[in-house]
Amino acid sequence: MPAPVSAPPPPGSVEFDEPSGTVVLRTAASCYVLRVDRAEGTVRHVHWGAPVPPADAAALPAWAGHDDSFEGRLDGVEEYPVEGGARFGVPALQVRFADGSGSLEPRVEDVRITDGDHLVVALRDRYRPLAWELHYRVPPGGDVLERWTEFTHTAGPDAEPVHLTRCSSAHWPLPQRPGWRLSCVHGGWSAENRLERTALAVGETTLTSRRGHTGHHAGPWVVLDAGHADEERGEVWATALAAGGSWRLTVQRTAAQRAGVVASEGHEGAEIPLAPGHRHVTPVSVAVYTPGGFGGVSRAFHGHVRRHVLPHPEELRPVLYNSWEATSFEVCEENQLALARRAASLGVELFVVDDGWFGARDDDRAGLGDWTPHRRRFPRGLRPLADEVHRLGMSFGLWVEPEMVNADSDLFRAHPDWVLHLPDRTATELRHQLVLDFSRPEVTDWAYGWLHALVADNGVDFLKWDFNRSFTEAGGHGGGPVRQVYIEHARGVHRLLDRLRAAFPALRVEACAGGGGRTDLAVLGRTDQVWTSDNTDAVDRLGIQHGFSQVYPAGVMSAWVTDSPNPLTGRSVPLAFRFHSAMAGVLGIGGDLTRWTEAEIEEAARLVQRYKDIRPLVQHGRQDRLLAPGEGLLTAVQYTGAGAGRTAVLVWRSSTSFGPAHPPLRLRGLDPAARYRDEDTGAEWSGATLMGYGLPVPALADGDCASALAVLQRTA
Ligand code: GLA
Repeated sequence: MPAPVSAPPPPGSVEFDEPSGTVVLRTAASCYVLRVDRAEGTVRHVHWGAPVPPADAAALPAWAGHDDSFEGRLDGVEEYPVEGGARFGVPALQVRFADGSGSLEPRVEDVRITDGDHLVVALRDRYRPLAWELHYRVPPGGDVLERWTEFTHTAGPDAEPVHLTRCSSAHWPLPQRPGWRLSCVHGGWSAENRLERTALAVGETTLTSRRGHTGHHAGPWVVLDAGHADEERGEVWATALAAGGSWRLTVQRTAAQRAGVVASEGHEGAEIPLAPGHRHVTPVSVAVYTPGGFGGVSRAFHGHVRRHVLPHPEELRPVLYNSWEATSFEVCEENQLALARRAASLGVELFVVDDGWFGARDDDRAGLGDWTPHRRRFPRGLRPLADEVHRLGMSFGLWVEPEMVNADSDLFRAHPDWVLHLPDRTATELRHQLVLDFSRPEVTDWAYGWLHALVADNGVDFLKWDFNRSFTEAGGHGGGPVRQVYIEHARGVHRLLDRLRAAFPALRVEACAGGGGRTDLAVLGRTDQVWTSDNTDAVDRLGIQHGFSQVYPAGVMSAWVTDSPNPLTGRSVPLAFRFHSAMAGVLGIGGDLTRWTEAEIEEAARLVQRYKDIRPLVQHGRQDRLLAPGEGLLTAVQYTGAGAGRTAVLVWRSSTSFGPAHPPLRLRGLDPAARYRDEDTGAEWSGATLMGYGLPVPALADGDCASALAVLQRTA
């Protein structure tokens, strides 16, 4: 008779085996094991990867380092390495006590599990007044783990503050593998999200922002594999940090082929003073392990963002129109009305007036900070335009840049001390503007006041919240540590967004920082979509969107169809290709519609209709990157609805070249036993054929910039 098998523990759970000190966190397809040793005062890592049964987990040896006089025997093996003792690796926690010392000696105080999915390991220094708690949570329904850390100054009120100089959300240890490969994005303004996949150097690799915002130059996430994973297969580990202002991810690879990621809010030198009795809570760091390759990692993040991050994941984002590329700073009631009428006729659902509607904003030299309608351009205020937009059946949106001020503004003349500055340093202007200090409550109260009035008085349904320069000379007011403001400014913005949304539950927000300079999980927790890039060239966008999709879902990726030739690149691209490129995310239109021909308007209206038809697949479905841009002639992305009932495939050929016919597109995520009908051609295939042999490439026009959309519906 076979031995009875006990039921496996449910995913989304935390188990604690008290005698061995072993904790097991389980997601749907992974397991994370750690060992608490009270006598030693350590929390060591045991395993992160494929599931192991509880009995094995308790018996597995905890990680151990070398024990010689030149090695730290705890290096790379601890869940949360501190600076202190024989530790020589990247610390997750560094402090400075009042006497200038910083060495820590941890002691384990407590291990507790709450709600079945939340583990807390409480530690404190053996002699000094600092306690820290490691928090782990398994959010239900996915393959993602969350970690964050909370610090408390435990001394009485007369004690000196403790300065936290590196207070990470987590250290994510990775197992020993013969080679490690790092995937991340880099770029710049109008060139965000260039995906790079390179061997991870032995040593320390740091991705960071020292800019006061998330940055175009790197994203706060990393993906790691042992060198063999591809889109569909292979073990992959990844982590993303829900932080904006300044941040640092350091990936360490040791000569022993171990790796680990330390994820922290704040860049080097950023200090947080912790007063007696006070608590500091880090942002959340999320992490994924999957055997399902890079596509598996992306889908795990996409699912997590939809289930646990976005304020309204159940909604479909509207097709929007934005005035920026059409009218630039020249917005006025008449030209916006003309655009709005055309936009409505196309099926646009949200009309957004971009920069230029306020103060003395005739160009970028003046007006930021004076958030009342421009007197000459909107002599009747904004309400008549908003009312007409509503009457046309669209929602009404406005561009704002609350954190910025031009020196040439009434606000700056009244409150020159509100900007980030250092008393004896030149205040560098970038785009002729300075940054207001949103770590100060009087400044965010002012912003709340005008934003509240603007939204309430004009029936505003949507804000595009911009941020158009990085910090310079960012000083603390009142003599605080100067670099704390990089963290506290971003937190001030988050609090303000939370407050505004609480006051206007129907208000929706797009995050923007000169395009994609503010794309992170923290901002996605209080906005609904992200302006992906100021680069609206439909070909360039394919690469930018490919990088974006590694972590963030298509349902937050705002993409506009603009004029051809593109104003930034000068490239001419057919309307259908421009649409197909933007239809891969949240479709918007940003061209000068008053100059589009009737034929273009008709074609655009048809494509908007088509987008609305596939929108649930794109915005809420499963995304498979079939062919990455730059790897061959074609780029292709597939979006599949729940239950694999319907699937949409977008294909682009940016530039043509003589050669053999394109091989079929091997689809993914379908039911092999089901049959699927191409809604345009009527051709019918089984799921098995579409995934095994592939979908014959849909007809593409000759020449460069050809594209197609195929939609297949399950028939049986
Ligand atoms: C930033 C945004 C643009 C536009 C301009 C307006 O660059 O990314 O979309 O709103 O500001 O000044």
